[in-house]
Amino acid sequence: MTKRVAVLISGGGSNMTALIRSMTGDHPARPVLVLSNDPQAGGLAKAADLGVPVQAIDHKAFGKDRPAFEAALHDVLVAAQPDIICLAGFMRILGADFITPWEGRILNIHPSLLPKYRGLHTHARALEAGDTHHGCTVHQVTAALDDGPVLGQARMPVLPGDTPESLAQRLLPLEHALYPAVLRRFAAGDRRPVMLDG
Ligand code: GAR
Repeated sequence: MTKRVAVLISGGGSNMTALIRSMTGDHPARPVLVLSNDPQAGGLAKAADLGVPVQAIDHKAFGKDRPAFEAALHDVLVAAQPDIICLAGFMRILGADFITPWEGRILNIHPSLLPKYRGLHTHARALEAGDTHHGCTVHQVTAALDDGPVLGQARMPVLPGDTPESLAQRLLPLEHALYPAVLRRFAAGDRRPVMLDG
């Protein structure tokens, strides 16, 4: 059975675009929804251009009521019936009440070599630590932030003169290679991690 994939975004959606473009031919999954917490997210128009249904639930409309925002997200996802939910630059923290019903079916890409640098400013933190390598991780989402079983990592060297911006720019193409490779394996029921060197 072809797996149904929903992709959650907050911004430009370059990882979402890479995921959607990958789901053709003999790929075991197809995109059914791109959902954003920001109606202005640039990725929504890109997804619509790719022929994928889009929806936005503006988190700002819910103020500090995160459970209500998450309940609205949940309802939209239930209607879309995804087998797999890919967080792709989705910048809202999701609570246990949201995650539990979908646990084991949510993937996330994070711009660090987890368990290093959970949270924000990962590129700057890798530089400050003097790391010789940086990278990105795709993992299963659990209720703990940027935690959960690792499904793949892509590594690259940190070069003399690197800045947070140059690291982010060099890492993005690796993210676009890693996430589709992991999704393809995961959708086929294979949980062995994908390891890439860039
Ligand atoms: C990506 O670098 C992704 O790894 C990061 O946001 C960017 C989104 O770019 N995600 C996180 O920081 C999650 N905590 P995109 O919208 O072009 O895919």
